[in-house]
This record gives sequence, structure tokens and C-alpha cells, in this order.
Amino acid sequence: MTDLAGKRVLVTGAGQGMGRAIAIEAARQGAQSVVVTDVNVQTGQETAELVSAAGAQSMFVAADLRQSDQIQGLITAAVDWADGLDTLVNNAGVLDSQLTEHATLEGLDEAAWDAVMDVNIKAVWLMTKFAAPALKASDRGPSIVNSASVSGVHGTKAGIAYGASKAAVIHFTKSSALYFAPTVRVNCYLPGMIQTPMALGHIEASPDPVDTIARMTGAQLIPRPGDPYEVAALACFLASDRASFITGGVYPVDGGMLAWRGVRS
Ligand SMILES: NC(=O)c1ccc[n+]([C@@H]2O[C@H](COP(=O)([O-])OP(=O)(O)OC[C@H]3O[C@@H](n4cnc5c(N)ncnc54)[C@H](O)[C@@H]3O)[C@@H](O)[C@H]2O)c1
Repeated sequence: MTDLAGKRVLVTGAGQGMGRAIAIEAARQGAQSVVVTDVNVQTGQETAELVSAAGAQSMFVAADLRQSDQIQGLITAAVDWADGLDTLVNNAGVLDSQLTEHATLEGLDEAAWDAVMDVNIKAVWLMTKFAAPALKASDRGPSIVNSASVSGVHGTKAGIAYGASKAAVIHFTKSSALYFAPTVRVNCYLPGMIQTPMALGHIEASPDPVDTIARMTGAQLIPRPGDPYEVAALACFLASDRASFITGGVYPVDGGMLAWRGVRS
């Protein structure tokens, strides 16, 4: 498939999970180049090698998305190396429970709240702000694809900051679509339970992992965890010219979780 032929792509949080799958899928779909970025150098470099093996030019840039100067440096390096930017995928994210054992409304401390907000929404704004000149200059169907979550739509007990940050991503996506129209399309998707290190870590840390999986998939119409490549397929479609009339959109990729209210019988 060559849906992303000629595109110069940048994927954040691409060291593992959905970010890695999106970077590799972009290469498989004919992207000219993929800049892989992550705070984790080892996994990021591994992804860049996998992207090269999948057929696209690739460069790894280490950056901590909590640091504004590193985000600016990342964008500059990516645009210089690829001679432009057409597709920005804001995939990186962190969950409250990855940062603290006290991931409840009252238990959460300010440092964990700030860390979640910094990575999940402030960095999405900064990436978009710093990438804007290159995206506006692109004549290769520029677009931004943001990773939100079903947790940005429904309430959650265990991810208070996470849910709020993902709701903000949905809103920011719509505002960005307005700001850039009609030149740069901006969309987001809402993963449900996807089998990645983030989800597996959450399950393994729970008192009863089997029960946790059952509860996480219990409201899905397709009763299994999603595969990262099932999300990558949607992200790459939204980035492709086949989605040329789609902007400001919010797309669940959740096995039907948001289609109804209740639990499967
Ligand atoms: N896995 C799920 O079930 C699920 C569900 C809904 C939404 N999401 C969202 O999808 C996206 C990808 O999730 P995933 O499950 O693949 O996550 P993951 O934890 O497996 O991977 C996230 C990547 O982001 C990187 N990262 C974290 N903090 C960073 C920072 N400060 N600077 C740079 N990189 C940083 C990590 O190193 C990691 O490689 C996230 O935005 C997440 O919130 C995941």
C-alpha cells in the first residue's frame, strides 16, 4: 500500500506500543521518511531500525516532551533532516498510575498531575505550535493526528489527570482544525484497550489481572484487547490523502466501547 507515498512523518512516543506501530505502518504505506522520537533512547533507536527495514528513511531524535527547548530542538532537527514535515503524529502519553501508586482524585499529588498534563496536552500544543510553519509550508497534504482516548469522553476513577488531559486533546484537536483550515487537516482518535506496554503494565500492577482485563474489555462489543496495528491503520488513514475531506474529527478505535452504555451479557 502506498497511501503515505512521499510523506515526511514525525511520530512522538514511538519507542514502543502504538507509536512504534504507527511509525512502522507509515513506512509500510510508503512514507518517504519517518522521524522517530522518544525519551527512551534504546527503544527509540530500535524503532528507527525497524522503520528503515520497513522501507522508509528514518532518524531517531531523543527528546523529553516535558521540556519545551527539547521539543523545539526536535522539530528543528526533524525539519532540517527531512527537508520539511507533512505528517505530525502526537502519540506519546502517560497514565497517572505509571507515576504514582495513589492514582485517585484525592490521592494524586500535584507532581503526577503536572507530569500527565505536560506530556499529554501541553506537549501536544507545543509540538503543534513549533511544527506549524513547516506544516503550513508543505505541499504534500499536511496533517496532524493526535492520540486521545476513550477516557477523554467517559469518566474514570483511576486516571483523573489522564482523562482530563485526553478530553483536552479532543478539544485542542477541534481548535487546531479551525486554526489551520483549510491548509492542514487535524484529527484525533480514541483508543480503547490496546495491548501495549502501557496497558499491560496497568493490568499487571492490579491486584487481579484476569479480572482487570475482563473489566477493561467488558463494555466492548468486540471482547478482546485491540492490537496496536489496528490503531496504526486508522492513524495512517487519517494522515493520508484518502482522508482529504476529514478534519476536526474524533474517531473511536475501541471495539465498540463507546457505542452504548452497559456491560455485555
Ligand atoms: N494502551 C491503551 O490501552 C491506550 C488507550 C487509550 C489511549 N492510549 C494512548 O495512546 C498513546 C500511546 O499509548 P501506548 O499504550 O502505546 O503507550 P506506551 O506507554 O506503551 O508508550 C508510550 C511512549 O511514550 C513515551 N513517553 C512517555 N513520556 C514521554 C516524554 N516525557 N517524552 C517523550 N516520550 C515519552 C514512552 O517512553 C513510550 O515509548 C498514548 O497517548 C496513550 O495515552 C493508550
